[in-house]
Amino acid sequence: MPGEPQTYDLVVAANRLPVDKVVSDSGEVSWQRSPGGLVTAMESVMRNRAGAWVGWAGDSGPAPEPFDEDGLHLHPVGLSAEEVRDFYEGFSNDTLWPSYHAVIVPASFPRDWWTAYREVNARFAGAVARLAEPGARVWIQDYQLQLAPALVRRLRPDLRIGWFNHIPFPPVELFAQLPWRSQILEGLLGADFLGFQRQADAQNFVRACRQLLRAQTKGDTVAVGDGSPRRVRASAIPISVDFDGLEELARRPDVVARSRELRESVGNPKVLLLGVDRLDYTKGIRHRLKAYEELLVEGRVGPPDVTFVQIATPSRERVEAYQNLRSEIEQTVGRINGDHGQIGAPPIHYLHHAYPREEMAAFFQAADVMIVSPLRDGMNLVAKEYVTCRYDLGGALVLSEFTGAWHELHQAFACNPNDIEDLKQAIMRAITTPAKERQRIMRALRRRVSEHDVQRWAQRFLAALDAAPERPVAGS
Ligand code: ADP
Ligand code: F6P
Repeated sequence: MPGEPQTYDLVVAANRLPVDKVVSDSGEVSWQRSPGGLVTAMESVMRNRAGAWVGWAGDSGPAPEPFDEDGLHLHPVGLSAEEVRDFYEGFSNDTLWPSYHAVIVPASFPRDWWTAYREVNARFAGAVARLAEPGARVWIQDYQLQLAPALVRRLRPDLRIGWFNHIPFPPVELFAQLPWRSQILEGLLGADFLGFQRQADAQNFVRACRQLLRAQTKGDTVAVGDGSPRRVRASAIPISVDFDGLEELARRPDVVARSRELRESVGNPKVLLLGVDRLDYTKGIRHRLKAYEELLVEGRVGPPDVTFVQIATPSRERVEAYQNLRSEIEQTVGRINGDHGQIGAPPIHYLHHAYPREEMAAFFQAADVMIVSPLRDGMNLVAKEYVTCRYDLGGALVLSEFTGAWHELHQAFACNPNDIEDLKQAIMRAITTPAKERQRIMRALRRRVSEHDVQRWAQRFLAALDAAPERPVAGS
């Protein structure tokens, strides 16, 4: 007879596991690190804890057996090819993603996608309910799993349920466009505590509950149920990076040597500009290229003195908006290099790959100016990783006001990426500000990130979950 299944006092559910299953042409299976900020952050949190991680293994087909990976207890959830299309590429990334990011591209609302979203959320909830020990804490992640809190509560009312949104939560005028807006709010209200990147996101959520569900709200809480309602708290707890671990990596002699090698391989410019993003229309890569091209045309920057490295990680490659973005970026890079390049000295080095963490740390150290120019971004961990790697106090960060990171890293060279002149000026200020002043700024940025690292974020989230009101709260 099989033994009792193992249960855990902390269960994390995220759309992705920290590793993706990759099957080679010869059928060989290997695992590679999954993309995105959620994985970067949660991986370092979970390495120090004895919990389980429920998530999708990144391909279609039956779920692989649970397995341990470098101390993490991973429990895969399977998605069929249709569910990858309708739940992941469709509802998550063609309905919710654009809706929650200021509709930079139009959102689509096919009804079949909603069915898949409900079914996959129910599968995640079932897996969580099976793995959680009595009274355990459950920590559900992000916009792909907004129905899971209520579904888990229905299956296991004994659990403490938290949810964290890694992306923005939209203003009610935008959120209200979703045909399934009420069901999504009701799904989230199954949690005891809801965490957001910025206070404005938490307030948008509370306002949506008040206006669309006619729920009673008081400060940062929403009352759920009649008679003696349960209170759900929604509050900002901004995510961060593993400051100590990443700085230690950046200080490694092989990483330092590699950063020198990288500079040499792009011709040892006086100024190396860097962009690092998933290839996503929210990241403002087009705006960045436009600003750089204008600076080239005006003769204010250019090779061999100034060069630009843009790393664009492949992302959501079967979604049309991402395919259009990729071809537009690649054409623009080709045109700029054709118009302004010299033999052996292109103005842009464009790389469409994922790299190991060591290589990313070396790139960050090699870059004199890091350009982070999203049109909308929940946090942007790249900005925090860059300052973490600059223990030498070198470098300068150009940062969009529309990132969560901006709310913590005010000393950075600010820009509104929609205003190309402003973006150009921010880049030029970052290049020309005297080294002493840049060091002062970098020291302040690093202090903020070191004092608010990812471990502190996790502690704050779990403490808020523990402190969430017990239910029911009669008459309050
Ligand atoms: P998002 O979650 O939207 O992708 P973030 O900036 O918050 O954006 O997080 C991106 C994460 O992915 C960071 O940890 C960053 O270092 C990592 N990353 C970005 N590009 C690459 C790449 N080409 N190879 C490896 N890691 C990458
Ligand atoms: O941070 C937002 C986010 O969507 C995460 O949920 C995800 O890990 C990351 O970006 C990468 O996206 P995807 O999982 O679609 O590749």
